[in-house]
Amino acid sequence: MIKKLLLGLGALLALAVLLISGLVAKAYYTTEQRMNRTYAVKAQSLPITTDSAELAYGDRLMTAKGCRDCHGEDLGGKVFIDDAPLGFLVGKNLTKGKGGLPSDHDITDWVLALKHGIRRNGKPLLFMPSHEYTLLSEQDMSAIVSFAVTLPEIDREFPEQKIGPVGRVLTDLGKLPLFPVEMIDHSRTLEKTVEVEISPAYGKYLSTACQGCHRPNMRGGDPVAPGFPPVADISSAGHVGKWTEEQFIQTLRTGVTPEGKTLKPTEMPWNMTAAYTDIELKALLAYLQSI
Ligand code: HEC
Ligand code: HEC
Repeated sequence: MIKKLLLGLGALLALAVLLISGLVAKAYYTTEQRMNRTYAVKAQSLPITTDSAELAYGDRLMTAKGCRDCHGEDLGGKVFIDDAPLGFLVGKNLTKGKGGLPSDHDITDWVLALKHGIRRNGKPLLFMPSHEYTLLSEQDMSAIVSFAVTLPEIDREFPEQKIGPVGRVLTDLGKLPLFPVEMIDHSRTLEKTVEVEISPAYGKYLSTACQGCHRPNMRGGDPVAPGFPPVADISSAGHVGKWTEEQFIQTLRTGVTPEGKTLKPTEMPWNMTAAYTDIELKALLAYLQSI
């Protein structure tokens, strides 16, 4: 009797192992294929400026758009995910120092990365949120790139990136945005400028930076990755619907909500929103309270 039970359990276990290894094997196969696809996209050029006010604006956007969260405070690169099952991901060194961009990396290569999510050899950039940056106005993208090309060289080299088994399976299930290139309309042209004003329209433009976690409808939901908290609903249906402008601004600059909750900058990146101007935050609130 016991022997029979044990045999049955053994068979079940063997089946489970077989199923899981099948899932992982399939995920390895599909993610390898997607990683090695070549995209034939011709990137447009961008006007580049040396105007000091525009460069300062580009510097601020590097914080406000989250670039520094992944590429490091000095943009000389940093490891932002180091977890064997998930993967080893490096926000590349964006300077022309050792371990950084090649010396002949030019403006169209920047556009390829930001607008298309592709590296210069036509292969997809992994996990770099280009599906958000593709919606930047030409003026904002130009300020970012104009500033980026003035960065002093920093020598910082990293081991190669790796995607672990859990990272592959989550990608295969559509739970991890490893291939932003696949979410982009590559034929779309950039809007020249956006109107900077306290309006839901400008707030919507800025909310692209929130979408990756709070979802396109801003209603939040499941954690973005294992180990993170569920994402809050920031549409008018959530707490935000009741907040005043002062309360919203205070939350996004200090990480403390009117309800007394302290948000961790590693989970809700308020160090990024702390760099937003009053106009930007008020526009965001106007948009969030309109939906
Ligand atoms: C969520 C993390 C994340 C954020 C936010 C992010 N990046 Fe990246 N970025 C990456 C990763 C990871 C890579 C390397 C991808 C690869 O090599 O597969 C990368 C690559 C790049 C590259 C490509 C370099 C090359 O090899 O051609 C450029 C340029 C770049 N990022 C610029 C930016 C800028 C500018 C911003 C902000 C507007 C930004 N990134 C925001 C993660 C991020
Ligand atoms: C990297 C993921 C991520 C991004 C990007 C992000 N958030 Fe969040 N946000 C979260 C998470 C997770 C929470 C919930 C944190 C918790 O419960 O501790 C949260 C909570 C909040 C809260 C508090 C809500 C409440 O009811 O207490 C506000 C407000 C907020 N986010 C606004 C924004 C705005 C505005 C943006 C874009 C400019 C943004 N977030 C971008 C992950 C993110």
